[in-house]
Amino acid sequence: GSNNGDALPESIPSAPGTLPHFLVEPEDSYIIKSNPIAMRCRAMPSMQIFFKCNGEWVHQNEHVSVESVDETTGLKIREVMINVSRQQVEDFHGPEDYWCQCVAWSHLGTSKSRKASVRIAYLRKNFEQDPQGKEVPIEGMIVLHCRPPEGVPPAEVEWLKNEEPIESFVDENIDTRADHNLIIRHARLSDSGNYTCVATNIVAKRRSASATVVVYVNGGWSSWSEWSACNVRCSRGWQKRTRTCTNPAPLNGGAFCEGMSVQKITCHSLCP
Ligand SMILES: *[C@@H]1O[C@H](CO)[C@@H](O)[C@H](O)[C@H]1NC(C)=O
Ligand SMILES: *[C@@H]1O[C@H](CO)[C@@H](O)[C@H](O)[C@H]1NC(C)=O
Repeated sequence: GSNNGDALPESIPSAPGTLPHFLVEPEDSYIIKSNPIAMRCRAMPSMQIFFKCNGEWVHQNEHVSVESVDETTGLKIREVMINVSRQQVEDFHGPEDYWCQCVAWSHLGTSKSRKASVRIAYLRKNFEQDPQGKEVPIEGMIVLHCRPPEGVPPAEVEWLKNEEPIESFVDENIDTRADHNLIIRHARLSDSGNYTCVATNIVAKRRSASATVVVYVNGGWSSWSEWSACNVRCSRGWQKRTRTCTNPAPLNGGAFCEGMSVQKITCHSLCP
């Protein structure tokens, strides 16, 4: 492009007044699938508005332009729209994102709008990190990692447990704010289940692999029973006591208690 700045090919006579003021400026937007996006500008007072994309003037006949008059001031308002297609954005290979900006003319001179970017929205298929299954002791901490697929705009992440959304705001024990990870501070038996990370942006929704979390309980001994009576009335015999692995009983693959469940000692009482 050999255009320099804001000068249009035709010369516009200058007259006193004010510079155009933008009532509507183009917005950053995303191309979804193959739908073109519309960009819009509105300025007052304004005799003419043209779009400039990536530093080049957009051809006059690609603009749809509507003129009106502000009732209170009598000033001319102009609104201009263009469409930007996916193809146009794909064909642009610049150092920055595809961008457009409006230039509006009044008798006094020109004003430029903000630059609005146009990006092609996408969400890749594969998660950069899927959550991994875990076995965690009760009261232990569960940390599940999720890094969503790369996307524009970046995906939002939510977690499902057994296909139901996890509502971390109703459960103080669960934190999903930390960088897409799911943290359960003190695991409960009810936290066992299948966890899935779901990534969503404006084009797509993707599910991670499911991670099975098992919260287990290691067994613990009950207290010893009383010693039994000596097994013989008199002379040498034995007595025993027992305990059971029930305090708590092992659960979900937790370890069985270590050690003996029965103790025996000898006893002897004098015969009469
Ligand atoms: C943009 O495209 C839509 C249809 O896709 C059409 O109705 C509209 O007039 C177009 N606008 C401009 C400014 O070309
Ligand atoms: C979790 O997934 C496994 C298979 O991966 C399945 O056997 C199990 O029933 C699931 N559990 C729940 C609570 O859905």
